[in-house]
Amino acid sequence: MQTFLEDVTPACARCTPAESLGATYERVRARTESLVSALGPEDMVVQSMPDASPAKWHLAHTTWFFETFVLGPNVPGYDVFDADFGYLFNSYYEAVGPRHPRPMRGLLTRPTSERVLAYRHHVDMHMRSFLRTDPGADVEALVRLGFAHEEQHQELLVMDAQHLFAQSPLRPAFDPAWPAPAAGPGGRFHRVTGGPVRIGAAEEPFAFDNEGPRHTVWLEPFEISDRLVTNGQWLAFIALGGYRRPDLWLSDGWAQRQEDDWTAPLYWRREGDVWSHMTPGGWRPVDPDAPVTHVSYYEADAFARWAGARLPTEAEWEHAVRTQGRLEQIDDVAWQWTASAYLPYPGFRAADDAVGEYNGKFMVGQMVLRGGASVTPHGHSRPSYRNFYRPGQRWMFSGVRLARDVHGSPDGERLTFLRDTLAGLSAERKHFSPKYFYDGAGSVLFEAICRTPEYYPTRTETALLHAIADDLAGTIPQGAVLLELGSGASEKTRVLLDAAPWVSAYVPVDISADALQAAVESLAANYPALAVHPVAGDFTSGIDVPVAVAGRPLVAFFPGSTIGNFTPTEAIALLRSIRERLGADAYLIVGADQVKDADVLLAAYDDAEGVTAAFNRNVLVRINRELGGDIDPLSFEHRAVWNVALERIEMHLVSREAQQVQVAGQTFAFAAGESIHTENSHKFTPASFARLAEAGGWTVERQWISPDPAFGVFVLRAR
Ligand code: SAH
Ligand code: AVI
Repeated sequence: MQTFLEDVTPACARCTPAESLGATYERVRARTESLVSALGPEDMVVQSMPDASPAKWHLAHTTWFFETFVLGPNVPGYDVFDADFGYLFNSYYEAVGPRHPRPMRGLLTRPTSERVLAYRHHVDMHMRSFLRTDPGADVEALVRLGFAHEEQHQELLVMDAQHLFAQSPLRPAFDPAWPAPAAGPGGRFHRVTGGPVRIGAAEEPFAFDNEGPRHTVWLEPFEISDRLVTNGQWLAFIALGGYRRPDLWLSDGWAQRQEDDWTAPLYWRREGDVWSHMTPGGWRPVDPDAPVTHVSYYEADAFARWAGARLPTEAEWEHAVRTQGRLEQIDDVAWQWTASAYLPYPGFRAADDAVGEYNGKFMVGQMVLRGGASVTPHGHSRPSYRNFYRPGQRWMFSGVRLARDVHGSPDGERLTFLRDTLAGLSAERKHFSPKYFYDGAGSVLFEAICRTPEYYPTRTETALLHAIADDLAGTIPQGAVLLELGSGASEKTRVLLDAAPWVSAYVPVDISADALQAAVESLAANYPALAVHPVAGDFTSGIDVPVAVAGRPLVAFFPGSTIGNFTPTEAIALLRSIRERLGADAYLIVGADQVKDADVLLAAYDDAEGVTAAFNRNVLVRINRELGGDIDPLSFEHRAVWNVALERIEMHLVSREAQQVQVAGQTFAFAAGESIHTENSHKFTPASFARLAEAGGWTVERQWISPDPAFGVFVLRAR
């Protein structure tokens, strides 16, 4: 029987330790006043749009809440401070009576800010006396609702002031010392197990009514990003036409994009090539490594579609936050849009009194956001907290955490390619990962390299495999599954399949979906009885064995000297992860090219026909196409270098001239002669390979080295 997954990790690492009701009252009220301390009287009056309210109104309304719901009904003989304030500062409570129209809040020059502060202090005095008595559980709950309410208005106050100041040609700052959000890399996806899970408020000291009842939902397995989408990723979305492609947008979203002429998140301005944006700290350059904020649901949804991902549902978000320990930026940068409409949970019923109007009546036409933002008071949020806005609103600190279905679209890799490329071009010594060579064209070019007279490894290894095929077949048990890493065209695989026809299934793993598809089609024609389960993906981020072959013995095949494309540290980590996946006593057959004369090596990586040069430059072509680059591939020279000390061939792309290139809306400068290091191809000796294998958890059981040019095939046994 499956048990419910219960809470493991509280999401809020900043919750306030227990304090008395009176102390919390003082803290919350003082914070509101400290937020307005830098505002002048004029700043407090103006309302920049109907969704926003003047600071003075927030000060008064939060006070009205305590006066109306706590003091009035519970303090005998309490006299309201001003009989007109009930009309002016009621927000939306029908049960309490009529109110001043929301869009006209900015026309209230009276009462003055001074009188509103006097109102606050009057109510504070009465609340202090009242809280010294024991108010009882029901009233305490109301007082705590008043705290949460005031904290919501603290956030609104900053949002509204930011919106107001963004209209000013003087570009004032709400608080010039406002900290910039922590910058960092874009996210990585992590798997979350599905099943029946519990969501909603459980034992929290305080939760809004809309966070319950706690209930069970069914989740399919999914993946969720550990970090939020960055400004740099958003710049790429802009540069690649994200705001010009209706196919990415929901119909209502596209209509609003057209009508409001959205071309970037709210508050972004472009001057020349430089983007800046309004923050509570004033106008600042857009930091590509900081999370994007101030995007609508429609934009978040379009971005997710462009990235080959989707937004998480609120149940996925909450469950992941409670159980997937690796999530970051949960409640300290930006509220995260979810794909969930704001609806009552099963069994929800709003209270019958005026306070029942707090949440329940807004449960239509809005989407849920989860988490918390830089403007959210510490300790205000929790994993079950349900914030909500209309899908077109964007003046709140709204950001994006992506999710995707397990085995989702390979487009989901686009953001990883983008992140790694921007990081590689920003590094002091520019570099790319060789795994990005292999788009469709790159895989075809690699096959062409294998046919050049200079590139000896493929034909040498193939000949060696033929010669030792029977020996290798001896390591493959009856009914085994053959798992191949970096299978490419699966040509060498055929030697093993012919020698061990008892292989029951073949699992080729390759990052190139195109190469994989072509290989699978070709194998199906020649091995009709063989079950083939291709896995498109990066084997360095975990090796997925399809459920269909689970439980059968696995033999892994890693030919082509692809292991040499990893640094020793990376190769050891990879060998360990294969060891972990395969279990005890497993076999791993590895092809590893051997150290030899530098001339032979250099020719193999710089063939006369220029195929390797085209392969190397193809990564630039791919960046231009997939990441909106403007790089002239021919302005980079292909260079192969034998690094004697590290026993590796290095491939570089060397800029022929000083130049600037654009990738995903960002500019990168090259000095003449500056290189991008694109690949390492480590070469081994039997001894150096054995050391590597040992460090990776394997022992060399057998080895064969071909006559010159030397190439090795090693049978490794898990230690
Ligand atoms: N095994 C074939 C192909 C070698 S070329 C042979 O021996 O001829 C290297 C292959 O590894 C390519 O098909 C490439 O797409 C794949 N590859 C490279 N890095 C990878 C990674 N990190 N994850 C999955 N596949 C990768
Ligand atoms: C796939 N890999 C082992 C090849 C190698 O030799 O490093 C890729 C390659 N690079 C240039 N030529 C071939």
